[in-house]
Amino acid sequence: MSTIVGQPLDRTDGVLKVTGEARYAAEFPEARLAHAVLVTSTIAHGTITSIDNVDRVQSMPGVLLVMTYLNAPRLPNNGKSPLSPPAGRHLSLLQNNEVRYSNEPVAVIVADTLEHATDAGRHLRITYAQQPAILDFRGALNDAYPPDNPQGRKTDTARGDFDAGVREGVVHVDEIYTTPIEHHNPMEPHATLAHWDGPQLTLYDATQGVTGAKNAVAATLGVHPDNVRVISPFLGGGFGCKGSSWSHVALAAMASHQVGRPVRLALERPQMFGPVGARPYTQQRIQLAARHDGTLTAMRHDSYSHTSTFEDWTETCCMVTRMLYAVPNQVTTHRLVKINAGTPTFMRAPGETTGSFALESAMDELAAKLNMDPLALRLKNYTDVDPTENKPFSSKVLRACYEQGAERFGWSKRSMAPRSMRSGNTLIGYGLGTATYPANRNEAAALARILPDGTAMVASGTQELGTGTYTVMTQVAADALGFPPQGIHFALGDSTLPKAPGSGGSQSAASVSPAVREACSQARDKLLSMALADPASPVHGMSLEDLSVENGWVVSRTDATKRDPAAAIIARAGGQPIEAQATTKSGPERQQYAFHSFGAVFVEVHVDESLGTIRVPRIVAVYDVGRILNRKTARSQLMGGLVWGIGAALEEETLLDTRYGRFTNANLAEYHVPVNADVGTIDVTFLDQPDPHFNSLGVRGIGEIGITGVVAAIANGVYHATGVRVRDLPVTLDKVMV
Ligand code: MOS
Repeated sequence: MSTIVGQPLDRTDGVLKVTGEARYAAEFPEARLAHAVLVTSTIAHGTITSIDNVDRVQSMPGVLLVMTYLNAPRLPNNGKSPLSPPAGRHLSLLQNNEVRYSNEPVAVIVADTLEHATDAGRHLRITYAQQPAILDFRGALNDAYPPDNPQGRKTDTARGDFDAGVREGVVHVDEIYTTPIEHHNPMEPHATLAHWDGPQLTLYDATQGVTGAKNAVAATLGVHPDNVRVISPFLGGGFGCKGSSWSHVALAAMASHQVGRPVRLALERPQMFGPVGARPYTQQRIQLAARHDGTLTAMRHDSYSHTSTFEDWTETCCMVTRMLYAVPNQVTTHRLVKINAGTPTFMRAPGETTGSFALESAMDELAAKLNMDPLALRLKNYTDVDPTENKPFSSKVLRACYEQGAERFGWSKRSMAPRSMRSGNTLIGYGLGTATYPANRNEAAALARILPDGTAMVASGTQELGTGTYTVMTQVAADALGFPPQGIHFALGDSTLPKAPGSGGSQSAASVSPAVREACSQARDKLLSMALADPASPVHGMSLEDLSVENGWVVSRTDATKRDPAAAIIARAGGQPIEAQATTKSGPERQQYAFHSFGAVFVEVHVDESLGTIRVPRIVAVYDVGRILNRKTARSQLMGGLVWGIGAALEEETLLDTRYGRFTNANLAEYHVPVNADVGTIDVTFLDQPDPHFNSLGVRGIGEIGITGVVAAIANGVYHATGVRVRDLPVTLDKVMV
């Protein structure tokens, strides 16, 4: 029987979006809405010594509140989150006069209009006493320290005997790779609308986790979680920065409480650069040793990344290195360096993006030294077992990804020597990188309700980041219920719905779809039992095995004339909806298998020999990501990751002024991201092989893998085109021309 799952169904929320009916956090209408703006610090480190003109600003037209450390409500625990990071972030909630980074929130102005609030904010005169700031990441490397249990991962690992492996090798690579600070910049900036009704707080918040936001805000403000409701039906992108509740969320709630009106606080684009996370600087040293035939004998990865002065957050660059190749002798380490910047955070494939750039660049360098095809080198060191945990991968068809990708791309036409392929003035390079990302899954619950009108309502407290959650969950529900997708309304983005995990770590589809499927199967079984038990039903008395639900009708498999619509079954039974709720989570398979997704990314790069300009006319990527829930939304999501990879490889870089701690390109004019003109042909294939052990649908999640592997593939292509190895991202024309 053909399934709805997998089909390239149009987005069920597509019409809402293109007609502007989809409501984002900052768009909810509220009577008596007041508008807040954040005022942020202009120094990198120090204290506020005075705020001279609070009274004058307070009396400016329309101003309702000037909230600073002088008058902000005192929070329990000084506003420090009772949860430890990264679950509970260390926020800036106006509890004292300290300034720890430039662009840190230091005041909130609330007024009757956004214009009045903005104007008033510009007039606030804050005087600071500056203290020395640590702003030079490389200069501070001597003060690096090991983080404690970074995001639940091991800080360091070792297996075998690294030094012996180095001695055993005959060809060696030892290089340092660096990546810059990057900022997420989803199209929709962070925004929160806070509304108090007595003790009850409702937040319309742009968040990747309604339940996480509810718990974080409740803990921060010292109120009971039952008194906080978070609503978030649509996001204009998340990418990790909306995976934590940053300062503005609690500040909006505090300000709303003070003025006794609903308050909306939307960050301005420059405020996206500082108080809401970033991808940190990384400096990564990779050492490889191999035999003449390419067999790896030793591998070491030492990663440094920056964090803030007040909270540890680690870019876990070594995660890919630990599991990708069958190398017996290995050491990996993570170290942190504190600088006076806002705390970095999860940014699409945090660790895997930066780490796979370094590792897959180093593998390319090793292949060049061995005079070996980079693809052959990968295959030589292929592993079906996760070498870290010594567990077999539940399913790994990366070999097929390499082979099909090479075929589709025409990899065999690649000449070995760098700078050996050209067309006129254009140097042509072919580059390869391996993509990988862990398959994550968490406990999730869902509710299914078959309604008296014969339609169904299915719900889970998950989120729609713009990736297609509404659509794919509708498809999963349609198959499990036996209902047409048009007859299903899927609800999400509300902390009062059955609990689902935050939409991060590529875990939503893999966590929520089994719960949706289970709740829907149970509702369907109830519908079948009701029909069987009802003497008035045409299917009465038949056996359960003989029945199915198709298009919302209970039908006999053997006699298609025996059929009964859901609405009639419910009506005869008294007209009450049929309801089922289910919670699903992983089981003992976690002990038996390692769960990872994989892909192979092939890139053609063109470099103008005279000007050094770099173009990427063609990307071919083949993915092993488990079952595909929707071929159209999946392709879009992987394409989005690849396009971001072009940005990370060639364009993106937030520049920190090491004198003042200010980001000098905190806007979308100077923070470059790829536009359509930067993107050539993108050919995405998925092998669509369901994971046999991961969950009931065999789906592994695809949110992040698209940005992995591609960055190295582009840098490797640039090397192949030009003979210049760029180890410092982004790869820009000045670095290619040296
Ligand atoms: Mo993702 S960086 O875990 O939102």
